[in-house]
Amino acid sequence: MIGLLLIGSGAREVAIARKIKESSSSTLLYCIASTTNPQIKNLSKLYFEQSPSEVSNVLELIKNLSIDLAIIGPENPLESGLVDALEKVGIPCVGPKRGVAKIETSKAFARNILDLCSPEMNPERKEFVTVDGVEDFLRHLNEEYVIKYDGLMGGKGVKISGEHLHSIEESLAYASSIVSGGGTFLIEEKFLGEEFSLMSFCDGTTCAHMPLVQDHKRAFDGDIGPNTGGMGTYSFANHSLPFLSEKDVLEAQQTNERVALELYKQTGQRFRGILYGGFMLTKSGVKVIEYNARFGDPEAMNVLSILETDFLAICNAIVSGSIANLKISFKNEATVCKYAVPNGYPNNPSKNFEVKCNPRENNLYLAAVQKTKGKIMATGSRTAAFVGINKEINVAEQIAEKGICEVKGKLFHRKDVGTNKLINHRIRNMKELLG
Ligand code: AMP
Ligand code: GLY
Repeated sequence: MIGLLLIGSGAREVAIARKIKESSSSTLLYCIASTTNPQIKNLSKLYFEQSPSEVSNVLELIKNLSIDLAIIGPENPLESGLVDALEKVGIPCVGPKRGVAKIETSKAFARNILDLCSPEMNPERKEFVTVDGVEDFLRHLNEEYVIKYDGLMGGKGVKISGEHLHSIEESLAYASSIVSGGGTFLIEEKFLGEEFSLMSFCDGTTCAHMPLVQDHKRAFDGDIGPNTGGMGTYSFANHSLPFLSEKDVLEAQQTNERVALELYKQTGQRFRGILYGGFMLTKSGVKVIEYNARFGDPEAMNVLSILETDFLAICNAIVSGSIANLKISFKNEATVCKYAVPNGYPNNPSKNFEVKCNPRENNLYLAAVQKTKGKIMATGSRTAAFVGINKEINVAEQIAEKGICEVKGKLFHRKDVGTNKLINHRIRNMKELLG
């Protein structure tokens, strides 16, 4: 029996737990997370409702358990140094140590790593600790800019000119609010184009790339509204996206590979985990929007749904540095994942309402919920995701739409994710931009 520790209780971690249980090896699953996800609990031998970012608590909880491997789902425990602590007591981890997780936890660090290995992927940018010089830089960028809080904010610390910031005054006010909260920020040139995610299984030296996925960060249909953690995603049966050329895909793959090697060079630590590049195809080529040090959520549900290789074998290859020796394959099927989120999400979400759904449904992934007194209650963030899988993307979309509509509560979702209409719009947009 292999003892596995899973950290986190969102939909992404449900996807991970299911893949662990599908493995040909027999496993005992232990989970530590701040809330109780009933789907993960059903698959677990023991489930501890504790914050996994409290590293000493985690060590205390597991001290009498036999754990062979830990898989870290979310970013916060990476920042708290959970991997450093687990590895110290001899538990190998799928998830990087704090020093290399900085590729996600500090946007300035990520840009500086890119300057060293793929500078052409970076926007023009500047780091700020006060508002001094902000106005001049905004004008220098012709008022086409993005202001990014330099730290973890669940995708909500980024504000874009013309969308969230409508004047220099508003932008200065946002910058001041970061400074008065003790934070620092970056101002970047605003890229225009189509975003895509490329996640790679990484052992510190070698990257095995997963199918490309497109996420939808804006809250509402038509890509409007505030930024969220991600409202829905799709992937194509050929593992690429219809607005990308082979060259674009190769450039993104090479960038992940270079970043992994540069991280090792700069920190002496190997990035062992999931390296997630957030890219945008622009009229001047592929650019980097951000890096993450974990599976994307919802992207994990797309790719793990079609992963053919034994997931535990991949985890073992990540921690033992043998990704190059493993053949990893995915089914040639399209996937569409849609998230149901509370009314008012992300700024003012409804909370503590009951969610009615069938938790035994295999393509349903519960996320920000808490099981209390036999009821599934929403806790105020992305609540449940449904994945449609089919050779044809439009059929996958219909399956996802039908599935997510069966999740009842004070919820809404984006109806346009994965529809032909939106995908064709994206292809046209990109063609126009590229001239
Ligand atoms: P991040 O948390 O860095 O992924 O940013 C959240 C979202 O803001 C991204 O998914 C993009 O839609 C947008 N964004 C971030 N940086 C840029 C940029 N330099 N240009 C245009 N959009 C950006
Ligand atoms: N879906 C975006 C993220 O996981 O950061």
